[in-house]
Amino acid sequence: MKLLYITLSISLVCIPVTADRPCAPREFGSGNIVCVCNMTYCDTIAKLSAVPADQFVQYSTSQSGLRFHKTVGSLVDSPHSTGIRFTVNLTATYQRILGFGGAFTDAAGINIDSLALQVKQNLMRSYFSVDGIEFNFGRVPVAGSDFSTHTYTYDDVPGDANFTHYNLTLEDFFYKIPLIKEAQQLSDRRLHLVAGAWTAPPWMKTNDDYSGFGFLKDEYYQTWADYLVKFLDEYKKQGIEFWGISTGNEPINGILPVNRFNSMGWTPHSQRHWIKHHFGPALKKYHCSVKLLALDDQRFMLPWWINILMSDKQVAEYIDGIAVHWYWDTLFPPSLLDRTHNNFPDKFILATEASVGDKPWEFEKVKLGSWSRGESYMEDILEDLNHWVTGWIDWNLALNPQGGPNWARNFVDAAIIVNTSANEFYKQPMFYALGHFAKFLPEGSVRIGLQPQEEKGVLAVAFQTPDNAVIIILYSRSDYDRRVTVTVSDTRHINLDIPKRSFHTVITGKVN
Ligand SMILES: *[C@@H]1O[C@H](CO)[C@@H](O)[C@H](O)[C@H]1NC(C)=O
Ligand SMILES: *[C@@H]1O[C@H](CO)[C@@H](O)[C@H](O)[C@H]1NC(C)=O
Ligand SMILES: *[C@@H]1O[C@H](CO)[C@@H](O)[C@H](O)[C@H]1NC(C)=O
Ligand SMILES: *[C@@H]1O[C@H](CO)[C@@H](O)[C@H](O)[C@H]1NC(C)=O
Ligand SMILES: *[C@@H]1O[C@H](CO)[C@@H](O)[C@H](O)[C@H]1NC(C)=O
Repeated sequence: MKLLYITLSISLVCIPVTADRPCAPREFGSGNIVCVCNMTYCDTIAKLSAVPADQFVQYSTSQSGLRFHKTVGSLVDSPHSTGIRFTVNLTATYQRILGFGGAFTDAAGINIDSLALQVKQNLMRSYFSVDGIEFNFGRVPVAGSDFSTHTYTYDDVPGDANFTHYNLTLEDFFYKIPLIKEAQQLSDRRLHLVAGAWTAPPWMKTNDDYSGFGFLKDEYYQTWADYLVKFLDEYKKQGIEFWGISTGNEPINGILPVNRFNSMGWTPHSQRHWIKHHFGPALKKYHCSVKLLALDDQRFMLPWWINILMSDKQVAEYIDGIAVHWYWDTLFPPSLLDRTHNNFPDKFILATEASVGDKPWEFEKVKLGSWSRGESYMEDILEDLNHWVTGWIDWNLALNPQGGPNWARNFVDAAIIVNTSANEFYKQPMFYALGHFAKFLPEGSVRIGLQPQEEKGVLAVAFQTPDNAVIIILYSRSDYDRRVTVTVSDTRHINLDIPKRSFHTVITGKVN
Protein backbone atom coordinates (compact mmCIF):
# COMPACT_ATOMS: atom_id res chain seq x y z
CA MET A 1 0.00 0.00 0.00
CA LYS A 2 2.82 2.42 0.91
CA LEU A 3 4.46 1.73 -2.45
CA LEU A 4 1.28 2.62 -4.29
CA TYR A 5 1.14 5.96 -2.46
CA ILE A 6 4.68 6.77 -3.48
CA THR A 7 3.97 6.07 -7.15
CA LEU A 8 0.85 8.19 -7.06
CA SER A 9 2.52 11.07 -5.30
CA ILE A 10 5.29 11.21 -7.87
CA SER A 11 2.82 11.35 -10.72
CA LEU A 12 0.94 14.14 -8.92
CA VAL A 13 4.09 16.25 -8.72
CA CYS A 14 4.59 15.97 -12.45
CA ILE A 15 1.16 17.20 -13.47
CA PRO A 16 1.29 20.97 -13.53
CA VAL A 17 -1.85 22.48 -12.07
CA THR A 18 -2.81 25.39 -14.27
CA ALA A 19 -6.40 26.19 -13.33
CA ASP A 20 -7.94 27.14 -10.00
CA ARG A 21 -9.71 24.12 -8.56
CA PRO A 22 -12.71 25.12 -6.45
CA CYS A 23 -13.36 24.35 -2.80
CA ALA A 24 -15.02 20.98 -2.07
CA PRO A 25 -17.30 22.29 0.67
CA ARG A 26 -18.57 20.41 3.69
CA GLU A 27 -20.92 21.90 6.21
CA PHE A 28 -20.33 21.35 9.91
CA GLY A 29 -23.49 22.99 11.24
CA SER A 30 -24.22 26.69 11.72
CA GLY A 31 -24.11 27.19 7.94
CA ASN A 32 -20.31 27.36 7.88
CA ILE A 33 -18.12 25.36 5.56
CA VAL A 34 -14.63 23.93 5.42
CA CYS A 35 -12.96 22.92 2.16
CA VAL A 36 -12.21 19.19 2.19
CA CYS A 37 -8.99 17.81 0.69
CA ASN A 38 -8.23 14.12 0.31
CA MET A 39 -6.01 11.82 -1.78
CA THR A 40 -7.43 12.82 -5.12
CA TYR A 41 -8.76 16.31 -4.61
CA CYS A 42 -7.74 19.63 -3.12
CA ASP A 43 -8.72 23.18 -4.05
CA THR A 44 -5.90 25.23 -5.57
CA ILE A 45 -5.24 28.80 -6.57
CA ALA A 46 -3.16 29.10 -9.70
CA LYS A 47 -0.30 31.55 -10.00
CA LEU A 48 -1.52 34.76 -11.50
CA SER A 49 0.20 36.05 -14.61
CA ALA A 50 0.78 39.81 -14.86
CA VAL A 51 -2.46 41.79 -14.90
CA PRO A 52 -2.84 44.19 -17.89
CA ALA A 53 -2.58 47.90 -16.99
CA ASP A 54 -6.26 48.71 -17.45
CA GLN A 55 -7.56 45.65 -15.60
CA PHE A 56 -7.84 44.25 -12.11
CA VAL A 57 -8.28 40.76 -10.71
CA GLN A 58 -10.34 40.21 -7.59
CA TYR A 59 -10.26 37.16 -5.32
CA SER A 60 -13.17 36.82 -2.91
CA THR A 61 -14.01 34.68 0.10
CA SER A 62 -17.35 35.06 1.84
CA GLN A 63 -19.50 33.73 4.63
CA SER A 64 -21.97 32.67 1.95
CA GLY A 65 -19.44 30.20 0.54
CA LEU A 66 -17.00 31.83 -1.89
CA ARG A 67 -13.36 30.70 -1.48
CA PHE A 68 -10.73 32.61 -3.51
CA HIS A 69 -13.41 33.17 -6.14
CA LYS A 70 -11.71 34.93 -9.04
CA THR A 71 -13.23 37.69 -11.17
CA VAL A 72 -11.64 40.07 -13.65
CA GLY A 73 -12.68 43.68 -14.21
CA SER A 74 -11.56 46.91 -15.85
CA LEU A 75 -10.47 50.16 -14.29
CA VAL A 76 -12.93 52.91 -15.18
CA ASP A 77 -12.96 56.71 -15.47
CA SER A 78 -15.55 57.42 -12.82
CA PRO A 79 -16.33 56.04 -9.37
CA HIS A 80 -19.64 54.49 -8.28
CA SER A 81 -22.05 57.39 -7.76
CA THR A 82 -22.82 56.12 -4.26
CA GLY A 83 -21.10 53.89 -1.72
CA ILE A 84 -17.81 53.76 0.12
CA ARG A 85 -14.77 55.46 -1.39
CA PHE A 86 -11.17 54.49 -0.63
CA THR A 87 -8.35 56.54 -2.14
CA VAL A 88 -4.85 55.16 -2.71
CA ASN A 89 -1.86 57.47 -2.19
CA LEU A 90 1.17 55.99 -3.92
CA THR A 91 3.56 58.62 -2.60
CA ALA A 92 2.85 57.77 1.04
CA THR A 93 4.95 54.69 1.82
CA TYR A 94 5.22 52.72 5.06
CA GLN A 95 6.72 49.36 6.13
CA ARG A 96 8.18 46.69 3.85
CA ILE A 97 6.55 43.26 4.02
CA LEU A 98 8.63 40.29 5.21
CA GLY A 99 5.97 37.62 4.82
CA PHE A 100 3.50 35.14 6.27
CA GLY A 101 3.62 31.60 7.62
CA GLY A 102 2.85 29.02 10.27
CA ALA A 103 4.63 26.91 12.87
CA PHE A 104 6.36 23.55 12.47
CA THR A 105 5.36 22.30 15.92
CA ASP A 106 5.60 18.65 16.93
CA ALA A 107 1.79 18.54 16.89
CA ALA A 108 1.68 19.85 13.31
CA GLY A 109 4.27 17.28 12.25
CA ILE A 110 2.47 14.39 13.94
CA ASN A 111 -0.85 15.33 12.32
CA ILE A 112 0.55 15.91 8.85
CA ASP A 113 2.63 12.74 8.99
CA SER A 114 -0.45 10.69 9.91
CA LEU A 115 -1.90 11.22 6.42
CA ALA A 116 -1.23 9.10 3.34
CA LEU A 117 1.56 10.55 1.23
CA GLN A 118 -0.54 12.24 -1.41
CA VAL A 119 -2.91 13.76 1.15
CA LYS A 120 0.08 15.07 3.06
CA GLN A 121 1.41 16.49 -0.16
CA ASN A 122 -1.87 18.26 -0.86
CA LEU A 123 -1.64 19.79 2.61
CA MET A 124 1.92 20.99 2.18
CA ARG A 125 1.13 22.34 -1.30
CA SER A 126 -1.87 24.20 0.10
CA TYR A 127 0.51 26.16 2.32
CA PHE A 128 3.76 26.43 0.40
CA SER A 129 3.50 25.83 -3.34
CA VAL A 130 2.66 28.19 -6.19
CA ASP A 131 -0.83 26.69 -6.39
CA GLY A 132 -1.29 27.21 -2.63
CA ILE A 133 -1.07 30.32 -0.46
CA GLU A 134 2.75 30.48 -0.71
CA PHE A 135 3.80 30.87 2.91
CA ASN A 136 7.40 32.09 3.14
CA PHE A 137 7.80 31.91 6.94
CA GLY A 138 8.04 28.98 9.32
CA ARG A 139 8.38 29.20 13.09
CA VAL A 140 10.24 26.34 14.73
CA PRO A 141 10.18 25.65 18.48
CA VAL A 142 13.66 24.87 19.86
CA ALA A 143 12.86 21.40 21.33
CA GLY A 144 9.39 20.93 22.86
CA SER A 145 6.49 23.29 23.35
CA ASP A 146 3.08 22.54 24.82
CA PHE A 147 2.19 21.27 21.31
CA SER A 148 4.36 18.19 21.93
CA THR A 149 3.27 14.82 23.33
CA HIS A 150 5.68 15.13 26.30
CA THR A 151 8.11 17.60 27.87
CA TYR A 152 11.72 17.58 26.72
CA THR A 153 14.72 19.69 25.82
CA TYR A 154 17.89 18.81 23.90
CA ASP A 155 19.80 18.08 27.08
CA ASP A 156 17.80 16.72 29.96
CA VAL A 157 20.78 15.24 31.83
CA PRO A 158 21.12 17.34 35.02
CA GLY A 159 24.31 19.38 35.22
CA ASP A 160 25.51 18.50 31.69
CA ALA A 161 26.86 22.00 31.06
CA ASN A 162 29.37 20.68 28.51
CA PHE A 163 26.50 19.23 26.44
CA THR A 164 27.93 15.70 26.36
CA HIS A 165 24.36 14.43 25.98
CA TYR A 166 22.98 17.26 23.83
CA ASN A 167 21.09 15.89 20.85
CA LEU A 168 18.24 16.66 18.53
CA THR A 169 15.28 14.34 19.09
CA LEU A 170 12.99 11.97 17.21
CA GLU A 171 10.63 14.93 16.80
CA ASP A 172 13.28 16.84 14.86
CA PHE A 173 14.32 13.91 12.70
CA PHE A 174 10.81 12.58 11.97
CA TYR A 175 8.60 15.66 11.93
CA LYS A 176 10.29 19.03 11.82
CA ILE A 177 13.29 18.50 9.53
CA PRO A 178 11.52 16.47 6.78
CA LEU A 179 8.53 18.84 6.68
CA ILE A 180 10.73 21.94 6.56
CA LYS A 181 12.68 20.42 3.66
CA GLU A 182 9.49 19.52 1.86
CA ALA A 183 8.21 23.07 2.30
CA GLN A 184 11.48 24.45 0.92
CA GLN A 185 11.19 22.20 -2.10
CA LEU A 186 7.58 23.09 -2.81
CA SER A 187 8.10 26.82 -2.47
CA ASP A 188 9.05 29.28 -5.19
CA ARG A 189 9.88 31.79 -2.48
CA ARG A 190 12.73 31.68 0.02
CA LEU A 191 11.43 30.08 3.23
CA HIS A 192 12.45 32.11 6.29
CA LEU A 193 12.68 30.07 9.50
CA VAL A 194 12.38 31.65 12.92
CA ALA A 195 13.48 29.65 15.96
CA GLY A 196 12.34 30.21 19.52
CA ALA A 197 12.75 28.21 22.74
CA TRP A 198 9.96 27.73 25.27
CA THR A 199 12.27 26.85 28.16
CA ALA A 200 15.80 25.92 29.14
CA PRO A 201 16.36 22.41 30.56
CA PRO A 202 14.95 22.26 34.12
CA TRP A 203 18.43 21.84 35.65
CA MET A 204 19.39 25.32 34.40
CA LYS A 205 16.36 26.85 36.14
CA THR A 206 15.50 28.11 39.61
CA ASN A 207 12.42 25.84 39.90
CA ASP A 208 13.93 22.73 38.26
CA ASP A 209 10.85 22.36 36.04
CA TYR A 210 9.72 22.85 32.43
CA SER A 211 6.87 25.17 33.43
CA GLY A 212 5.68 27.33 36.31
CA PHE A 213 7.34 30.22 38.11
CA GLY A 214 10.98 29.84 37.17
CA PHE A 215 14.01 31.67 35.79
CA LEU A 216 17.41 30.85 34.36
CA LYS A 217 19.99 30.42 37.16
CA ASP A 218 22.74 33.07 37.04
CA GLU A 219 25.47 30.46 36.58
CA TYR A 220 23.84 29.18 33.39
CA TYR A 221 23.44 32.47 31.47
CA GLN A 222 26.30 31.57 29.11
CA THR A 223 25.35 27.87 28.97
CA TRP A 224 21.86 28.78 27.77
CA ALA A 225 23.25 31.09 25.07
CA ASP A 226 25.57 28.26 23.93
CA TYR A 227 22.66 25.80 23.91
CA LEU A 228 20.74 28.01 21.46
CA VAL A 229 23.77 28.51 19.23
CA LYS A 230 24.28 24.74 19.25
CA PHE A 231 20.70 24.28 18.09
CA LEU A 232 21.44 26.47 15.05
CA ASP A 233 24.64 24.42 14.46
CA GLU A 234 22.78 21.11 14.66
CA TYR A 235 20.12 22.20 12.17
CA LYS A 236 22.81 23.55 9.87
CA LYS A 237 24.39 20.07 9.90
CA GLN A 238 21.02 18.80 8.69
CA GLY A 239 21.07 21.35 5.85
CA ILE A 240 18.67 23.83 7.43
CA GLU A 241 19.65 27.43 8.10
CA PHE A 242 17.60 29.81 10.18
CA TRP A 243 16.65 33.37 9.24
CA GLY A 244 15.97 34.45 12.80
CA ILE A 245 15.82 33.39 16.44
CA SER A 246 13.88 34.96 19.27
CA THR A 247 14.99 35.68 22.82
CA GLY A 248 12.46 33.03 23.96
CA ASN A 249 8.75 32.36 23.81
CA GLU A 250 6.47 34.40 26.09
CA PRO A 251 8.78 35.29 29.00
CA ILE A 252 5.77 36.61 30.94
CA ASN A 253 4.48 33.02 31.39
CA GLY A 254 7.36 32.21 33.72
CA ILE A 255 6.47 35.20 35.93
CA LEU A 256 2.68 34.88 35.88
CA PRO A 257 2.33 31.11 35.53
CA VAL A 258 -1.42 31.01 34.86
CA ASN A 259 -0.59 28.68 31.98
CA ARG A 260 0.68 25.24 32.86
CA PHE A 261 2.88 24.77 29.81
CA ASN A 262 6.61 25.06 29.01
CA SER A 263 7.88 28.50 29.94
CA MET A 264 10.83 30.38 31.34
CA GLY A 265 10.55 33.74 33.01
CA TRP A 266 12.61 36.82 32.26
CA THR A 267 12.27 40.40 33.35
CA PRO A 268 13.22 42.96 30.69
CA HIS A 269 16.22 43.78 32.89
CA SER A 270 17.50 40.21 33.22
CA GLN A 271 16.93 39.65 29.52
CA ARG A 272 18.83 42.85 28.65
CA HIS A 273 21.78 41.62 30.71
CA TRP A 274 21.69 38.18 29.05
CA ILE A 275 21.53 39.62 25.51
CA LYS A 276 24.34 42.09 26.19
CA HIS A 277 26.82 39.73 27.84
CA HIS A 278 25.85 36.28 26.60
CA PHE A 279 23.39 35.66 23.77
CA GLY A 280 24.14 38.71 21.60
CA PRO A 281 27.90 38.08 21.42
CA ALA A 282 27.48 34.29 20.97
CA LEU A 283 24.89 34.61 18.20
CA LYS A 284 26.79 37.25 16.26
CA LYS A 285 30.05 35.34 16.61
CA TYR A 286 28.77 32.06 15.17
CA HIS A 287 25.64 32.94 13.17
CA CYS A 288 26.05 36.63 12.41
CA SER A 289 23.39 36.76 9.69
CA VAL A 290 20.67 35.24 11.90
CA LYS A 291 18.30 37.97 13.01
CA LEU A 292 17.61 38.42 16.70
CA LEU A 293 13.94 38.96 17.54
CA ALA A 294 13.07 40.42 20.93
CA LEU A 295 9.92 39.96 23.05
CA ASP A 296 8.08 37.05 21.32
CA ASP A 297 5.18 37.90 23.61
CA GLN A 298 1.94 39.89 23.79
CA ARG A 299 1.18 43.34 22.41
CA PHE A 300 0.33 44.69 25.88
CA MET A 301 4.03 44.48 26.81
CA LEU A 302 4.83 47.11 24.12
CA PRO A 303 6.62 49.44 24.14
CA TRP A 304 7.55 49.00 27.83
CA TRP A 305 9.64 45.81 27.46
CA ILE A 306 11.40 46.98 24.31
CA ASN A 307 12.14 50.45 25.77
CA ILE A 308 14.05 48.77 28.60
CA LEU A 309 16.01 46.43 26.30
CA MET A 310 16.88 49.22 23.88
CA SER A 311 18.03 51.57 26.63
CA ASP A 312 21.39 49.78 26.33
CA LYS A 313 23.14 50.79 23.11
CA GLN A 314 24.89 47.46 22.63
CA VAL A 315 21.69 45.49 23.17
CA ALA A 316 19.92 47.76 20.70
CA GLU A 317 22.54 46.85 18.10
CA TYR A 318 22.07 43.12 18.66
CA ILE A 319 18.28 43.30 18.22
CA ASP A 320 17.00 43.27 14.63
CA GLY A 321 13.27 43.11 15.20
CA ILE A 322 10.38 42.76 17.61
CA ALA A 323 8.18 39.64 17.66
CA VAL A 324 4.64 40.05 18.93
CA HIS A 325 1.82 37.59 19.76
CA TRP A 326 -1.86 38.28 19.28
CA TYR A 327 -3.66 36.81 22.31
CA TRP A 328 -5.10 39.93 23.96
CA ASP A 329 -5.15 42.22 20.89
CA THR A 330 -8.87 42.93 21.18
CA LEU A 331 -8.22 44.54 24.61
CA PHE A 332 -5.03 46.46 23.76
CA PRO A 333 -5.04 49.04 20.96
CA PRO A 334 -2.75 48.96 17.92
CA SER A 335 -1.41 52.37 18.97
CA LEU A 336 1.03 50.33 21.10
CA LEU A 337 2.54 49.11 17.82
CA ASP A 338 2.70 52.69 16.49
CA ARG A 339 4.48 53.86 19.64
CA THR A 340 6.97 51.00 19.39
CA HIS A 341 7.63 51.79 15.73
CA ASN A 342 8.04 55.50 16.47
CA ASN A 343 10.54 54.77 19.24
CA PHE A 344 12.56 52.32 17.10
CA PRO A 345 11.78 52.96 13.42
CA ASP A 346 14.67 50.83 12.16
CA LYS A 347 13.51 47.63 13.98
CA PHE A 348 10.92 45.54 12.15
CA ILE A 349 7.81 44.29 13.98
CA LEU A 350 6.72 40.74 13.11
CA ALA A 351 3.64 38.90 14.45
CA THR A 352 4.89 35.43 15.43
CA GLU A 353 1.92 33.60 16.98
CA ALA A 354 -1.86 33.50 16.84
CA SER A 355 -4.59 30.95 17.46
CA VAL A 356 -8.26 30.96 18.42
CA GLY A 357 -9.94 28.87 21.11
CA ASP A 358 -7.20 29.48 23.69
CA LYS A 359 -9.39 31.18 26.30
CA PRO A 360 -10.68 29.00 29.16
CA TRP A 361 -14.26 30.12 28.44
CA GLU A 362 -14.02 28.93 24.82
CA PHE A 363 -15.23 25.38 25.36
CA GLU A 364 -15.20 24.48 21.68
CA LYS A 365 -11.47 24.40 21.00
CA VAL A 366 -11.90 23.40 17.34
CA LYS A 367 -14.95 24.88 15.65
CA LEU A 368 -14.97 23.48 12.13
CA GLY A 369 -15.91 26.06 9.51
CA SER A 370 -16.23 28.94 11.97
CA TRP A 371 -16.60 32.11 9.94
CA SER A 372 -16.18 34.35 12.97
CA ARG A 373 -12.77 32.80 13.67
CA GLY A 374 -11.80 33.51 10.07
CA GLU A 375 -12.91 37.10 10.65
CA SER A 376 -10.79 37.29 13.82
CA TYR A 377 -7.70 36.41 11.78
CA MET A 378 -8.68 38.81 8.98
CA GLU A 379 -9.28 41.68 11.36
CA ASP A 380 -6.07 41.19 13.33
CA ILE A 381 -3.80 40.81 10.28
CA LEU A 382 -5.34 43.86 8.65
CA GLU A 383 -5.05 45.92 11.83
CA ASP A 384 -1.44 44.84 12.39
CA LEU A 385 -0.48 45.71 8.81
CA ASN A 386 -2.05 49.15 9.15
CA HIS A 387 0.18 49.66 12.22
CA TRP A 388 3.71 48.86 11.00
CA VAL A 389 3.70 45.06 11.35
CA THR A 390 5.74 43.46 8.53
CA GLY A 391 4.32 39.93 8.55
CA TRP A 392 2.18 37.44 10.43
CA ILE A 393 2.97 33.87 11.47
CA ASP A 394 0.15 31.56 12.47
CA TRP A 395 0.56 28.97 15.23
CA ASN A 396 0.33 25.17 14.43
CA LEU A 397 0.21 24.44 10.67
CA ALA A 398 -2.24 21.61 11.41
CA LEU A 399 -4.02 20.13 14.44
CA ASN A 400 -6.37 17.21 15.04
CA PRO A 401 -10.14 17.60 15.62
CA GLN A 402 -9.50 17.95 19.37
CA GLY A 403 -7.04 20.83 18.78
CA GLY A 404 -3.93 18.84 19.71
CA PRO A 405 -1.92 16.86 20.52
CA ASN A 406 -0.83 19.04 23.45
CA TRP A 407 0.70 17.47 26.59
CA ALA A 408 -0.71 20.28 28.77
CA ARG A 409 -4.20 19.93 27.24
CA ASN A 410 -3.93 23.53 26.03
CA PHE A 411 -5.95 22.73 22.90
CA VAL A 412 -6.70 25.40 20.28
CA ASP A 413 -8.02 25.73 16.74
CA ALA A 414 -5.93 25.80 13.54
CA ALA A 415 -6.27 26.90 9.92
CA ILE A 416 -6.06 23.24 8.87
CA ILE A 417 -7.59 20.36 10.83
CA VAL A 418 -6.47 16.84 9.98
CA ASN A 419 -8.81 13.84 10.19
CA THR A 420 -6.49 10.86 10.21
CA SER A 421 -9.12 8.12 10.15
CA ALA A 422 -10.81 9.61 7.08
CA ASN A 423 -7.42 10.40 5.48
CA GLU A 424 -8.54 13.95 4.74
CA PHE A 425 -8.05 17.47 6.04
CA TYR A 426 -10.21 20.56 6.36
CA LYS A 427 -9.24 24.08 5.30
CA GLN A 428 -11.00 26.52 7.58
CA PRO A 429 -12.02 30.16 6.92
CA MET A 430 -8.83 31.11 8.87
CA PHE A 431 -6.78 29.47 6.11
CA TYR A 432 -8.41 31.67 3.47
CA ALA A 433 -8.08 34.81 5.62
CA LEU A 434 -4.32 34.15 5.81
CA GLY A 435 -4.19 33.37 2.10
CA HIS A 436 -5.72 36.71 1.11
CA PHE A 437 -2.46 38.26 2.38
CA ALA A 438 0.20 35.55 2.08
CA LYS A 439 -0.45 34.63 -1.53
CA PHE A 440 -0.54 38.16 -2.90
CA LEU A 441 2.02 40.08 -0.84
CA PRO A 442 5.49 38.88 -1.77
CA GLU A 443 8.41 39.89 0.42
CA GLY A 444 9.42 43.45 -0.41
CA SER A 445 5.89 44.73 -0.99
CA VAL A 446 5.46 48.14 0.61
CA ARG A 447 2.36 49.45 2.32
CA ILE A 448 1.08 52.61 0.67
CA GLY A 449 -1.38 55.28 1.74
CA LEU A 450 -5.10 54.47 1.75
CA GLN A 451 -7.82 56.77 3.06
CA PRO A 452 -9.89 55.95 5.02
CA GLN A 453 -8.85 52.66 6.63
CA GLU A 454 -12.43 51.82 7.61
CA GLU A 455 -15.88 52.97 6.61
CA LYS A 456 -19.32 51.48 7.24
CA GLY A 457 -17.86 48.18 8.38
CA VAL A 458 -15.45 47.81 5.44
CA LEU A 459 -11.75 47.78 6.41
CA ALA A 460 -8.89 48.03 3.95
CA VAL A 461 -5.12 48.18 3.50
CA ALA A 462 -3.06 48.83 0.33
CA PHE A 463 0.38 47.81 -0.92
CA GLN A 464 2.61 48.11 -3.93
CA THR A 465 4.50 44.94 -4.88
CA PRO A 466 8.09 44.84 -6.16
CA ASP A 467 6.51 44.50 -9.66
CA ASN A 468 4.60 47.77 -9.08
CA ALA A 469 1.18 46.14 -8.97
CA VAL A 470 -1.16 47.73 -6.44
CA ILE A 471 -2.80 45.27 -4.02
CA ILE A 472 -5.83 46.26 -1.97
CA ILE A 473 -7.13 43.90 0.68
CA LEU A 474 -10.65 44.55 1.92
CA TYR A 475 -12.64 43.00 4.74
CA SER A 476 -16.35 43.59 5.16
CA ARG A 477 -17.75 42.87 8.59
CA SER A 478 -20.92 44.63 7.53
CA ASP A 479 -24.21 42.74 7.49
CA TYR A 480 -25.15 44.54 4.24
CA ASP A 481 -23.79 44.20 0.72
CA ARG A 482 -21.71 47.31 -0.07
CA ARG A 483 -20.73 49.29 -3.15
CA VAL A 484 -17.08 50.24 -2.93
CA THR A 485 -14.83 52.36 -5.13
CA VAL A 486 -11.06 52.24 -4.80
CA THR A 487 -9.56 55.30 -6.48
CA VAL A 488 -6.05 54.64 -7.75
CA SER A 489 -5.69 58.01 -9.52
CA ASP A 490 -8.06 60.80 -10.61
CA THR A 491 -8.92 58.93 -13.79
CA ARG A 492 -8.57 55.32 -12.66
CA HIS A 493 -11.14 53.75 -10.36
CA ILE A 494 -11.98 50.21 -9.31
CA ASN A 495 -15.69 49.77 -8.75
CA LEU A 496 -16.63 46.76 -6.65
CA ASP A 497 -19.75 45.19 -5.22
CA ILE A 498 -18.82 43.58 -1.94
CA PRO A 499 -21.15 41.03 -0.37
CA LYS A 500 -21.76 41.17 3.36
CA ARG A 501 -19.21 39.39 5.57
CA SER A 502 -16.44 38.85 3.03
CA PHE A 503 -12.67 39.10 2.33
CA HIS A 504 -11.19 40.43 -0.95
CA THR A 505 -7.80 40.87 -2.56
CA VAL A 506 -7.76 43.20 -5.56
CA ILE A 507 -4.70 43.22 -7.83
CA THR A 508 -4.07 45.86 -10.49
CA GLY A 509 -1.58 45.89 -13.33
CA LYS A 510 1.59 47.96 -13.05
CA VAL A 511 1.05 51.42 -11.59
CA ASN A 512 3.90 53.92 -11.70
C1 LIG B 1 -12.11 13.12 -2.59
O1 LIG B 1 -12.80 14.34 -2.78
C2 LIG B 1 -13.47 14.41 -4.02
C3 LIG B 1 -14.01 15.81 -4.16
O2 LIG B 1 -14.78 16.15 -3.06
C4 LIG B 1 -14.54 13.34 -4.06
O3 LIG B 1 -15.20 13.38 -5.30
C5 LIG B 1 -13.90 11.98 -3.86
O4 LIG B 1 -14.90 11.00 -3.77
C6 LIG B 1 -13.07 11.95 -2.60
N1 LIG B 1 -12.32 10.73 -2.50
C7 LIG B 1 -12.28 10.01 -1.40
C8 LIG B 1 -11.45 8.78 -1.44
O5 LIG B 1 -12.90 10.32 -0.39
C1 LIG C 1 -0.03 61.60 -0.24
O1 LIG C 1 1.06 61.33 0.62
C2 LIG C 1 2.05 62.31 0.62
C3 LIG C 1 3.24 61.79 1.42
O2 LIG C 1 2.82 61.42 2.70
C4 LIG C 1 1.46 63.61 1.14
O3 LIG C 1 2.44 64.61 1.12
C5 LIG C 1 0.26 64.02 0.29
O4 LIG C 1 -0.38 65.11 0.86
C6 LIG C 1 -0.74 62.87 0.19
N1 LIG C 1 -1.76 63.21 -0.79
C7 LIG C 1 -3.04 63.24 -0.48
C8 LIG C 1 -3.97 63.58 -1.59
O5 LIG C 1 -3.45 63.01 0.65
C1 LIG D 1 33.34 20.53 31.29
O1 LIG D 1 34.58 20.28 30.68
C2 LIG D 1 35.68 20.90 31.35
C3 LIG D 1 36.94 20.71 30.52
O2 LIG D 1 37.05 19.38 30.10
C4 LIG D 1 35.79 20.32 32.75
O3 LIG D 1 36.84 20.94 33.46
C5 LIG D 1 34.49 20.55 33.50
O4 LIG D 1 34.53 19.91 34.78
C6 LIG D 1 33.29 20.01 32.71
N1 LIG D 1 32.08 20.42 33.37
C7 LIG D 1 31.04 19.62 33.56
C8 LIG D 1 29.86 20.19 34.24
O5 LIG D 1 31.04 18.46 33.18
C1 LIG E 1 21.21 11.65 18.35
O1 LIG E 1 19.95 11.13 17.99
C2 LIG E 1 19.96 10.39 16.80
C3 LIG E 1 18.54 10.01 16.45
O2 LIG E 1 17.89 9.48 17.55
C4 LIG E 1 20.88 9.17 16.98
O3 LIG E 1 20.94 8.47 15.76
C5 LIG E 1 22.27 9.65 17.38
O4 LIG E 1 23.09 8.54 17.66
C6 LIG E 1 22.21 10.53 18.61
N1 LIG E 1 23.53 11.10 18.85
C7 LIG E 1 24.05 11.17 20.07
C8 LIG E 1 25.40 11.82 20.14
O5 LIG E 1 23.47 10.76 21.05
C1 LIG F 1 -13.32 12.00 10.73
O1 LIG F 1 -13.63 10.97 9.85
C2 LIG F 1 -14.47 9.97 10.36
C3 LIG F 1 -14.64 8.95 9.28
O2 LIG F 1 -13.49 8.21 9.11
C4 LIG F 1 -15.79 10.56 10.77
O3 LIG F 1 -16.58 9.58 11.39
C5 LIG F 1 -15.57 11.72 11.73
O4 LIG F 1 -16.79 12.38 11.98
C6 LIG F 1 -14.59 12.71 11.13
N1 LIG F 1 -14.29 13.74 12.12
C7 LIG F 1 -14.58 15.01 11.91
C8 LIG F 1 -14.21 15.96 12.99
O5 LIG F 1 -15.07 15.39 10.89
